[in-house]
Amino acid sequence: MSPAQQRALDLLLPRLGVPFAPSALDFEQLFLRRAPTILEIGFGMGETTAEIARMRRAENFLGVEVHGPGVGGLLKRVDELGLTNVRVIRHDAVEVLAAMIPHASLAGIHVFFPDPWPKKRHHKRRLLKPGFVHELAMRLAPGGYLHAATDWEDYAEEMLAVFSAEPLLENTATGFAARPAYRPLTKFEIRGVRLGHDVHDIIFRRRREG
Ligand SMILES: C[S@@+](CC[C@H](N)C(=O)[O-])C[C@H]1O[C@@H](n2cnc3c(N)ncnc32)[C@H](O)[C@@H]1O
Repeated sequence: MSPAQQRALDLLLPRLGVPFAPSALDFEQLFLRRAPTILEIGFGMGETTAEIARMRRAENFLGVEVHGPGVGGLLKRVDELGLTNVRVIRHDAVEVLAAMIPHASLAGIHVFFPDPWPKKRHHKRRLLKPGFVHELAMRLAPGGYLHAATDWEDYAEEMLAVFSAEPLLENTATGFAARPAYRPLTKFEIRGVRLGHDVHDIIFRRRREG
């Protein structure tokens, strides 16, 4: 961790961090306002999170990440940009979801470039599996969206199949979606595209009926 990331963690985590606890969050209390809340899982160094939160100030962004330097990195950006609509939980997102995120409470969920686990014998470690996707769908309010992106072709196909098989969800596109303007191109994505790797966005919505 760089000294700046450590400093951001020490100074800002007490203010903008939420300790893991087995009790449901009240977003209005947490963000000090009533606004649509977007959950982001695995924000890495937080470049995308901070950029989206800067562009979409009318919404709340709750980021969950296990990687300490990444949490420090996002907090530093949030501070530099003077953002008031970001909160962070440094903990495993699977546990956070189960213990802290109420059903039907979210306007959206972002999962950008989740760990691809490229070896076949490791595919079972991938985050976006049917059981977890169902849990995610349960946390969306009707009409709320689940947006994933990946540059791994077979993971993209797997996500499309898993999301399509979840009865609570419907696709917003036919197959893969176009990258929405709110998701900025990441540095590694620009490099990947130059190398000929396609990035796929998968955007589903929780059905309003049923
Ligand atoms: C490949 S990185 C992508 C980071 C970022 N979203 C981006 O687009 O650059 C995946 C991130 O997910 C985080 N992650 C993986 N499993 C997680 C979990 N169960 N809970 C929270 N974060 C997780 C990792 O620590 C890592 O930072």
